[in-house]
Amino acid sequence: MIILKSTEEINLMRRAGKLTAAARALAGELVKPGVTTQEINDEVERFIRKEHAVPSFLHYQGYPASVCISVNDEIIHGIPGKRVLQEGDIVSVDVGAYIGGFHGDCAATFACGKISAEAQDLIDVTRQSFFEGFKQAKEGNRIGDISAAVQAYAESHGFSIVREYVGHGVGADMHESPEIPNYGHPGRGPRLLRGMTIAVEPMVNAGAASIYQMSDGWTVRTADGKNAAHYENTILITDGEPEILTAPAI
Ligand code: MF3
Ligand code: CO
Repeated sequence: MIILKSTEEINLMRRAGKLTAAARALAGELVKPGVTTQEINDEVERFIRKEHAVPSFLHYQGYPASVCISVNDEIIHGIPGKRVLQEGDIVSVDVGAYIGGFHGDCAATFACGKISAEAQDLIDVTRQSFFEGFKQAKEGNRIGDISAAVQAYAESHGFSIVREYVGHGVGADMHESPEIPNYGHPGRGPRLLRGMTIAVEPMVNAGAASIYQMSDGWTVRTADGKNAAHYENTILITDGEPEILTAPAI
């Protein structure tokens, strides 16, 4: 069942989204050579709690940290730890925060120091693939219109879409219906209605689409060891332009 949010609920989601976006921005500032992923996790968690919110991911299905930090060939769900970031790494940070009964959920891939032109291209294309999907996210369109636009843009640049993980509805629960695949066909899937709040989150591989699940039970990496990037915002469907709830968009 797809839950449509009332005006009051949308206002609460704006608050959660704004805070989550600020947490993502903070994480981005912390990405520097010499910093550990644990330090980033801890500082972002401190910020979330200082704002009287709760990190959405902590203990979610047993996830052991507040933030997902995935480096280079890690796509998503990287667990923060002792890993020291190096110049040239690309660092995907995924953050969720819960306040006022609602979740915000967003992610971005950040450059650690100076990175290669290829790595920057992957980051830029992944981010833009979100915005190509975003343009389709309006009342009357269907989920497949978003999915197809994301896929077409990423693949037209020679990159691959991860298929095993998808975007999702978001609200009082972090994962609500419907699923938002980053691949598909225009005109297919559930119709978009104003008041729907969804997380659109392309995960894009520089090489092949195949993924590999690590033995920690969480980290998902590319099978071929090439880089991956991730970009996500929580958005609101309206009868006109969609609204990014995890604004400011970066
Ligand atoms: N942002 C992720 C998503 O959209 C959630 C991370 S999964 C967790 O599905 F288990 F780490 F919380
Ligand atoms: Co998400």
